[in-house]
This record gives sequence, structure tokens and C-alpha cells, in this order.
Amino acid sequence: MHLNGKPERSCTLRVAQVGNRAVTTIEGLSPDGSHPLQKAWIKHDVPQCGYCQAGQIMAAAALLAENNKPTDADIDAAMSGNICRCATYLRIRKAIHDAAANLRGEKTVDAGAVSATAGLACAEICTAHEKEVCA
Ligand code: FES
Repeated sequence: MHLNGKPERSCTLRVAQVGNRAVTTIEGLSPDGSHPLQKAWIKHDVPQCGYCQAGQIMAAAALLAENNKPTDADIDAAMSGNICRCATYLRIRKAIHDAAANLRGEKTVDAGAVSATAGLACAEICTAHEKEVCA
């Protein structure tokens, strides 16, 4: 979720800590699911079980609100700590790049281009920190 537009982990935040800040959840990202990230998530078939995905999208939305041309390193830094037990990290990164391109008015990535990541073992696609979690 976002508090005043900044990402926060709702799982570790007590309600009393929210104060008067504006709360935006995944449901408030767009009224009809038309946010470029939501569209990119569908296009790239990002979710697996879906458990982590609201947090992933909200973290990505906060990143793109400040940086509409993130590098892989920018994405990894912004998404760090958002653990996905299903290891959807490469699809998340592709979807963020795609949504960023959409926000810049550029041609977006062909969804077929991401199929090459399917079937990779967790250790092949995770960052070092995430490998510890997946092991
Ligand atoms: S999609 Fe299953 S935990 Fe991320």
C-alpha cells in the first residue's frame, strides 16, 4: 500500500502508525484496473499464486511515479524486500519495463518475448538475497 504516495508494507505497519496519511491500496490504484502496471501484469502473465502481487504492484507503482525509465538495478532496488515465493521476479521486471515504456508513450514489449524466461530454475532468476529465501 501507499501512504501519501510512498510504499509501505501493510503487513508490518500498525494502524496507529498510519496517522492522517492518505492510504492507497491495490484497489485504489485505478478504478477499473487500467493502470499501465495492471495491464502489463496481465500482458506478461506475472502472477503465479498471487499472494505477493498486490505489494509488488504497489511497490512498482511508487517506483514509476518517481522514475518512468528505471534500469534493472533501479527496479531491483525498489522491489527489494518484496518476496515472491513463486519467483516471478523476471516477469515482474519485464512488466515494470513495459509499463514504464507505456507511461513514456513508447512502444511496449511484445508479451511473447517474455516466454523465454518460463521454465528457468529459481536460482537462475533470483538475486543473491532472494536465492537465500528460495533455497
Ligand atoms: S506469485 Fe506466489 S508469492 Fe508471488
